[in-house]
Amino acid sequence: MNENEITSIKGFRDILPEEVGIWQRLEAESRKVFEVFGFQEIKTPILEKTELFSRGIGEDTDIVAKEMYSFTDIKGRSLTMRPEATASVTRAYIQHRPYQKYPVQKLYSIGPMFRRERPQKGRFRQFYQINAEMFGDPGPKSDADIILMAISLFESVGLGDLTLNLNSLGCPGCRPSFKEHLRGYLADKTPLLCEDCRRRADTNPLRVFDCKIPSCKEVVTAAPTIADFLCQECRGHFESLQDYLNGSDIRFVLNSQLVRGLDYYNRTTFEVQTERLGAQNAVAGGGRYDGLVKLLGGPDHPAIGFAVGVERVVALLEDRETPALKNPDLFIAALGEKADRVSFKWIDALRKAGIWVELDYAAKGLKAQMKKAGRLGAGRVLIVGENELEAGKGILRDMVTTEQVEVDLKEIVETLKGILGR
Ligand code: HAM
Repeated sequence: MNENEITSIKGFRDILPEEVGIWQRLEAESRKVFEVFGFQEIKTPILEKTELFSRGIGEDTDIVAKEMYSFTDIKGRSLTMRPEATASVTRAYIQHRPYQKYPVQKLYSIGPMFRRERPQKGRFRQFYQINAEMFGDPGPKSDADIILMAISLFESVGLGDLTLNLNSLGCPGCRPSFKEHLRGYLADKTPLLCEDCRRRADTNPLRVFDCKIPSCKEVVTAAPTIADFLCQECRGHFESLQDYLNGSDIRFVLNSQLVRGLDYYNRTTFEVQTERLGAQNAVAGGGRYDGLVKLLGGPDHPAIGFAVGVERVVALLEDRETPALKNPDLFIAALGEKADRVSFKWIDALRKAGIWVELDYAAKGLKAQMKKAGRLGAGRVLIVGENELEAGKGILRDMVTTEQVEVDLKEIVETLKGILGR
């Protein structure tokens, strides 16, 4: 590497053109699926006040405690590059009050998020999420609908082999008693826990379920489970959700240790997981967050949502699809000044008809231009020089069959549109 070269930052990657095709397909499928579920796109800023995330996601979460890209601006305000979209979309929901018009709001967004995690396979510091949020309905039917939408998205891109993990985290009424029991269970096991979990055992014991360190995982295998502590309402909600899912033939596994890394959740939480990506196995995660709108200063409105990790889904799709670049339909090899001028006009007209036409900007000789057309993988080449112009006939070469035909130059744009099928 040249010592003057400036490279990208660790954990921040370039998505090169070869890969972009799959990204675009995933985004297009999301839009298609989400829109038939009645979701509308919203775009929120990448930069927000730090307080939005510290209050919304929770001071005690890994994201807020150690992963945010925050800085103080010139006026002394602390700003943060969004680590996720839910808090931002919720802020926009509160700020613009769309619920005054329609009580149930369904919003999706697509864009980059930023977390200063340790980069590894499937984990980046800038990563993209496809995010969906539904505000205004508290019932299990909306949980089922949003889960169905996530599964529909994966099916629409050909990923039917994923596992849906489901849990209920209870509500502010029943969770505290579970927390207390868990705290009690963990109290005499602190020597077996990692340093982070020793702290968590007291401050936020549910988070211990999320730890990837083997000794901590071992400790929680025999821990009390939230399922035994759910109040009647939470239990009823969870059972009803499962009935809806069963009724729609959505397969799921109950995972009472699925706690998620953000504090705003209550009741339903879920993750879509794969076995094909190693440690970073969640391709989507979400759940209900009935308290967040109020916590961020809005009305007491319930909500549920999820986010898909784009890089991880793309990695799964790349396993089975060879990323491919598209090729030009036509290359015009113009020889000499006059042909160069005349054909430049044709190119403009052909492009307006949706035909991808390439040309040689440097106007070199025929051999060089044919070589360039070959490199670009152009389907056909139109050759026009002084002689062809004079005779009113150009040569059209099929680059696959190498067959060459004479074409009339008088109506060349129409002729080419016909041949190229536009
Ligand atoms: P999350 O579980 O933090 O949830 O992220 C959702 C998904 O984003 C993960 O399942 C994963 O696929 C992807 N992801 C997260 N961190 C990274 C990373 N560092 N590198 C690559 N991919 C990553 C949320 O963000 C919630 N806001 C989801 C939600 C929406 N809940 C309710 N509404």
